[in-house]
Amino acid sequence: MLKNKTKDATLRFPKGFLWGTATAAHQVEGNNINSDWWQYEEQGKILYRSGRACDSYNRFKDDHDLIEKMNNNVYRLSIEWARIEPEKGKFDHEAMKHYVEVLSDLKKREIKVMLTLHHFSSPTWIAALGGWANHFVAIYYFRRYAKFVLENVGGLVDFWVTINEPGVYTDQGYDKGIWPPMQVNYWKAFLCYVNMAFAHRLVYRLIHKKIRNAQVGLAMNVMSFASYRKHKLMELLFVHFADRFVNHSFYDLTKHKHDFLGINYYFRVRLKQKGHSLVPEVEDVTEGERELSDVGWLIYPHGLYDVLMDLADFKEPIYITENGIAAEDDTKREKFIVNHLAEIYHAIKGGVDVRGYFHWSLLDNFEWEKGFSPKFGLASVDHKTFERKLKPSGILYGEIAKNNCIAEELVKKYQ
Ligand code: FCB
Repeated sequence: MLKNKTKDATLRFPKGFLWGTATAAHQVEGNNINSDWWQYEEQGKILYRSGRACDSYNRFKDDHDLIEKMNNNVYRLSIEWARIEPEKGKFDHEAMKHYVEVLSDLKKREIKVMLTLHHFSSPTWIAALGGWANHFVAIYYFRRYAKFVLENVGGLVDFWVTINEPGVYTDQGYDKGIWPPMQVNYWKAFLCYVNMAFAHRLVYRLIHKKIRNAQVGLAMNVMSFASYRKHKLMELLFVHFADRFVNHSFYDLTKHKHDFLGINYYFRVRLKQKGHSLVPEVEDVTEGERELSDVGWLIYPHGLYDVLMDLADFKEPIYITENGIAAEDDTKREKFIVNHLAEIYHAIKGGVDVRGYFHWSLLDNFEWEKGFSPKFGLASVDHKTFERKLKPSGILYGEIAKNNCIAEELVKKYQ
């Protein structure tokens, strides 16, 4: 008799796959008073104030409890330059001690650490020196700060992320001018971008000099690009150049100076030619019935697959250092997680060396110029009591991490 062979649709991840979440100091710690972001918030140049944020500076153990509850084996967090070196050349040993405590607590719980050295915020004195557009900041001050961090917590870090999203930082700060230093200056934008690449290369070397087998990378913002019309030659060219510039250029500038590629993926954009214009226009996704996040980003899981297949050419291990959705409706996040992880699974099957996934974010937190309203967290935070509560999506993510697979029912539910 023929057996009724049904295929098991469970998506199993490679043994040792890393499951984590990501946060950034300014967005969760609170009272980051010596940073440029804090200064701009106080001056009213940023509409919202981070204030006590999620109070993670004091409640980091509560955060680690959540991480444990979700069976995660890694956590990506950032260390705050403005706390460690609040004044030029004066290192705050107490602040450093605090981070030693934070990282040691993670180690005690057998949670691996991915540490970001720069996640958008800088000390006010750095900003006063001209910020990242000043070459000296990149090649001298940032390296000096990194050296101090390395000497103090080097042994507690498994993965280093030198800089988070240099492209977004440059664009928001120097092209659009909506984040500190709030300038619209393309020359400075260019300098900032190149300086960040320099800084990365120097710090890469510095860390490797101290720690032989260090894992050093950066977290790059990547997007999935598509042409608005399938056969429109000009739009295909737009896509080619946008893709080279946004997704590849920083990795090209830092070639051979990463042990892994960190990629932050959130959405796809389609590029359109209006009339005979040589400047691409981004398709307006807010019109119509497309599936968007609460901040208007197009949800497009397959784009992550496209980006992964493309970046596989670098032949380096890849970590998804950020991926997440702003959603008040948590069921949207559950679907988002399952569908994006399924694309990662298929990329791995297709030969891409993806070794870990970090969901953005552990907590609902201070989302930069948008304040606290976008809800990116797997856990909510009561902003009066600072009590954290895992959302159903957090519980679901925890199940996936525990089993190292997406169960068949889940795959089918969201297909
Ligand atoms: C990324 C940032 C992160 C957070 C998410 C939503 O670009 O790295 O800090 O704001 O977007």
